[in-house]
Amino acid sequence: MTLYHGDMREILPALGTVDLVLADPPYAETALAWDRWPDGWPTIAAEVTRSMWCFGSMRMFLARHGEFAAAGWKLSQDIVWEKHNGSGFAADRFKRVHEHALHWYRGDWSGVHHDTPRIPGADPTDRYQRRPRAADRTAHAGSIAAAPPRPKDGTRLARSVIRAQSMRGRAIHPTEKPVAVPLPPLPAGRPPRGTVHDPVAGSGSRLAAARQSGRRAIGIEADEAYCEAIAGRLAQGALDIPA
Ligand SMILES: C[S@@+](CC[C@H](N)C(=O)[O-])C[C@H]1O[C@@H](n2cnc3c(N)ncnc32)[C@H](O)[C@@H]1O
Repeated sequence: MTLYHGDMREILPALGTVDLVLADPPYAETALAWDRWPDGWPTIAAEVTRSMWCFGSMRMFLARHGEFAAAGWKLSQDIVWEKHNGSGFAADRFKRVHEHALHWYRGDWSGVHHDTPRIPGADPTDRYQRRPRAADRTAHAGSIAAAPPRPKDGTRLARSVIRAQSMRGRAIHPTEKPVAVPLPPLPAGRPPRGTVHDPVAGSGSRLAAARQSGRRAIGIEADEAYCEAIAGRLAQGALDIPA
């Protein structure tokens, strides 16, 4: 684990290339002092990696899509974190109890490390895990039977919704994610011996997830107090138990 204190736009380019950037940037949706979009950061990230998982809200990604596209980022997939409490800002709309993480890549998909996210066990509730009947084939998805054969090793594809308790009441950062959330995307985006970079480290959740999965990680955080909190957290050496 290596942690830098400063502006990622200055530090990130000096650190060389990495296998994966795993970032939870400011969404610029609140009045919190640090919640300001770091202008130009998707372009800077594109200079150091071809693979990036980025947390954010739908509102943020729609507003910033042009910046990602201009930097050459293409979307491969997304996951949803479903939390037990809400973070909606309006009393007349659905209570928002989820956040997104999008995987972006540059160049050819075949040139980007991506382990197929498989987990143990069959899922009897997922009809697509069974051999599809003709009636299951939908016009928009084409023939499901044409999909690559599924391995008969007792595993199934991991589902794209991750349910985990939020950190409310035990957080050291106002938008802290539980370690259970950044953990699953790690193998999907980074080789086992690869290095992950979190340029907006916050409380260090993604650094803790990297440590928990036994991988090398580099973090950057602009706020000195959060750097101290991260250092204290990671120095403890204790395992974070997913909620
Ligand atoms: C959304 S929070 C990340 C919180 C994180 N999800 C967690 O689990 O703790 C974004 C963090 O980025 C930091 N930040 C904002 N602008 C930055 C910049 N230009 N360089 C480095 N860090 C920055 C903020 O101080 C804040 O802690």
